[in-house]
Amino acid sequence: MRSPMDCDSGGSDMPFRASVLTLYPDMFPGPLGASLSGRALNEGIWSLNATNIRDFAADRHRSVDDTPAGGGAGMVLRPDVLAAALDSVADGRPMLAPTPRGAPLTQARIRELVLGEGVILLCGRFEGFDERIFEARPLEPVSIGDYVLSGGELGAMVILDACVRLLPGVMGAASSGEEESFEQGLLEYPHYTRPVTWEGRTIPEVLRSGDHAKIAAWRHAQAVEDTRLRRPDLIERHGGASQAPPSGARRRDTKAKEK
Ligand code: ADE
Repeated sequence: MRSPMDCDSGGSDMPFRASVLTLYPDMFPGPLGASLSGRALNEGIWSLNATNIRDFAADRHRSVDDTPAGGGAGMVLRPDVLAAALDSVADGRPMLAPTPRGAPLTQARIRELVLGEGVILLCGRFEGFDERIFEARPLEPVSIGDYVLSGGELGAMVILDACVRLLPGVMGAASSGEEESFEQGLLEYPHYTRPVTWEGRTIPEVLRSGDHAKIAAWRHAQAVEDTRLRRPDLIERHGGASQAPPSGARRRDTKAKEK
């Protein structure tokens, strides 16, 4: 188990281990091989293993799917093949299956995952998984949004990216992530940089004032305002708790045009 202290001390010795079960192992690491996550992969901060589900097919045609019981379009991944694939990597790490039928993925769940030894991700294709796999194995269905992708691989990459950037040593020391969107039940405050005036729009004066208390209060007010406008569901979910003043805030585009 990783402890939050690892974040302060620069990291646990053990890499965060990701095992992906997929019909398209060549899709990995894909974008995870670039930028922050790619460097962290090369540095051994995390490891990635992609295994082909087809390797666990038992028949000579190597079939992994079959027609849906009750009729209908598409094909369904067989539970016996999925179970054999899962059992080959199961070692106590959380097992997640990206699917639009899953519970929405949250930053809070990502934070929990990062404290563990790693994660196992089962990627579906076609019409999805035989439902019995969720009863027979401790497999958590998770959705990355209310839209349908052609498979779970991009969902798995999203989950891994969200985890890896939080691993000790991946982001700069300054980036604890505590002021980011969702961490306080709010969207993050908006950012500005030079030039001070661009296309007639000037950076809000308060951000140039040097008054850190005023800046923090302004950012918090903007975070609340933007969250109310763009994501009222977040405010409701946190029961208004997000009004408590943290040290950051956010603003609106319309306001940015005022000065
Ligand atoms: N697979 C297909 N669509 C998905 C979604 N919205 N979230 C997670 N996995 C998926």
